[in-house]
Amino acid sequence: MQSTTIHFAQFNQLQDDACHQRIHAARARLGKEAVLLCHHYQRADVYQYADFTGDSLKLSRLASGTDSRYIVFCGVHFMAEVADIMSKPEQIAILPDLAAGCSMADMANLAKVERCWRELGEVLDVDQQFTPVTYINSAADLKAFCGARGGIVCTSSNAGTIAAWAFARREKILFFPDQHLGRWTGFQMGIALDEMMVWDPDLEMGGLTAEQIRRARLLLWKGHCSVHQMFQPSHILRFRNQHPNGLVIAHPECSFEVCRQADFVGSTEYIVRTIKEARPNTRWLVGTELNLVNRLAEEVRHEGKIVQFMAPTVCMCSTMQRIDPQHLAWTLENLADGQVVNRITVPEHERALAKLALERMLAVS
Ligand code: 13P
Ligand code: SF4
Repeated sequence: MQSTTIHFAQFNQLQDDACHQRIHAARARLGKEAVLLCHHYQRADVYQYADFTGDSLKLSRLASGTDSRYIVFCGVHFMAEVADIMSKPEQIAILPDLAAGCSMADMANLAKVERCWRELGEVLDVDQQFTPVTYINSAADLKAFCGARGGIVCTSSNAGTIAAWAFARREKILFFPDQHLGRWTGFQMGIALDEMMVWDPDLEMGGLTAEQIRRARLLLWKGHCSVHQMFQPSHILRFRNQHPNGLVIAHPECSFEVCRQADFVGSTEYIVRTIKEARPNTRWLVGTELNLVNRLAEEVRHEGKIVQFMAPTVCMCSTMQRIDPQHLAWTLENLADGQVVNRITVPEHERALAKLALERMLAVS
């Protein structure tokens, strides 16, 4: 008998305990048909169901390696798009709540990036001089834009390697959408701060003069992650005054000053690995999303390690947080009934070029 889609309204008010029972039951019915990939920022009551966890680079590799029919992505929209692009044609990528977007990814769009490229072309030979590099936190059409122009994707864990790849081909990089990751990457490569200009997509010519564009080696799109802008150098200073032997680790989406004052800077996977591998009885101040920090603090407590969140206020990735047990139960129960909900499909005309840019990244890193 053909079953019909169960509507989310039936799950919206469901208590967490009931959700958990239904998630277990649906997963038992699905078996290996469904794999659950979870980003490190995922809330604990969903993260507990992960088959695999990781940062964006690790998860994009996992998405291309799994054989399950359904890839249920507990992350944000661009991550599920990458899963769709990198998986086999018969596989289906699913995002349990379609509202789980990335506000930073939304700070660049194709119309604005195309306009930027056109305007750069009025000043110099943009196709010969610039390589477009998009952070993986971007829509598929921007990855396709890069694929079509000899460009590439990067993540927070390979941005330096990718920038070196790009500079080996052309003299300049247009980096979007995160100015902070771009600036930190350029700084690590020895590029002077005054050779890194910010391109403001809401201003004509990005708010730059022709001379500034000609001089720039790295053009940084004016985008940011609001979660990581909550961390301030003053938080690090206070920690160092209180705990002179303490160590500071930050994600490269943090501001330049925070990264500069940290002892270690790296992706979410790097942060987790560095603290897990650290000596016992060490104290850490961590500048990244709260769910990751709380989980890590619990996991290393038995070794006498103390893990503190960098900001005095709560900063979570509120969009990723939308994927809750209610949405997961609803998604899995529908899949177990043979009904696909919240499928993420990248249009054919974007897929091949976006895949090219992603494959260049995977080959290089
Ligand atoms: P990672 O690739 O380090 O997991 O970062 C993704 C992200 O969105 C951080 O805000
Ligand atoms: Fe996007 Fe920031 Fe959330 Fe990462 S933490 S997914 S950059 S909004």
